[in-house]
Amino acid sequence: MNRRDILATMAVAAASSAHAAETPATSPMTYPNKKFPVKDCVALVTGSNRGVGLGFVEVLLKRGAKRVYATARNPKALAELAALDPKRVVALELDVTNDAQRHAVAEQAKDVTLLINNAAYPGSEVADERRFLSATNLDDIKRSMDTNCYAPAELARLFIPHMLKNGGGAVLNILSGGALFCLPEFTSYSTSKAAAAIMTAGLRAETDRQPILVVSVFTGGVQTRALPIGATVAFTPADHANEVFDDIAEGKTTLFPSSGKPNMRERINADPEAFERRIIDRFHTNPVKIAPY
Ligand SMILES: NC(=O)c1ccc[n+]([C@@H]2O[C@H](COP(=O)([O-])OP(=O)(O)OC[C@H]3O[C@@H](n4cnc5c(N)ncnc54)[C@H](OP(=O)(O)O)[C@@H]3O)[C@@H](O)[C@H]2O)c1
Repeated sequence: MNRRDILATMAVAAASSAHAAETPATSPMTYPNKKFPVKDCVALVTGSNRGVGLGFVEVLLKRGAKRVYATARNPKALAELAALDPKRVVALELDVTNDAQRHAVAEQAKDVTLLINNAAYPGSEVADERRFLSATNLDDIKRSMDTNCYAPAELARLFIPHMLKNGGGAVLNILSGGALFCLPEFTSYSTSKAAAAIMTAGLRAETDRQPILVVSVFTGGVQTRALPIGATVAFTPADHANEVFDDIAEGKTTLFPSSGKPNMRERINADPEAFERRIIDRFHTNPVKIAPY
């Protein structure tokens, strides 16, 4: 990003945050039935520069969100995000594992009523480092836990108090079908997503008597760079976002967006042992590979 882009982005952010300070947000949430239509919400999306995260930003704008804090760890992505809708998009730098950046963003975005924890680390590019025994140490599992479980929890801790002041809100934690079983090609990722699924359920239990909707999104099969090499699916990030937003408008809390196809939980429950056997045999004979990051 050149100096002009940086200044333009900072100006948009400053103007929007000044506006945010003047007009207290009013949450679109209804309580106690906890329905959350995204129209008029103020959203913050992590990892919003591509894939599922960018789909959320684009669909939020289409569905009438009042403001979208589109965050990304790469500052080069910010100008493009702000250009999506300079009046409503505030593009901010956020590496979700960086505590100082998390606090700075939470200080700036006090009007948030919808937090979408989307950013995720898929695991080391070196396949052996993604498993418990073949890895040289447990650094990859620790990094996966930091990015995929603890960072979303830290952000929920920072933003839920803002939401309560704004009349309520929603936290969407983007998990994975790989939170429901071990993907042995990506054991570190699977482990962290399974932990994040329980963390999300814990947040839901803790906020049960408050105007906060906490949603577990067991995402799978969305056409992004993260899909295995050779996999083609017709489910786009926009389709995924639309399905998720339809569900939270009805107050649903455990989502398996899948465009009507049998979802991962249904496939596992049909025969859990046979399902695991297929996954393990695939790992030993024809393991899933993804493109270099
Ligand atoms: N696609 C699927 O079918 C699928 C299936 C299951 C679950 N999911 C989940 O959906 C979410 C999005 O995945 P995707 O398919 O869109 O993958 P993706 O295209 O690889 O996007 C991942 C995003 O996370 C960001 N990110 C990674 N580490 C970060 C950090 N420390 N701080 C901030 N941002 C960080 C990346 O930023 P950079 O561009 O800077 O790397 C990128 O924007 C993830 O939670 C993933 O686990 C997707």
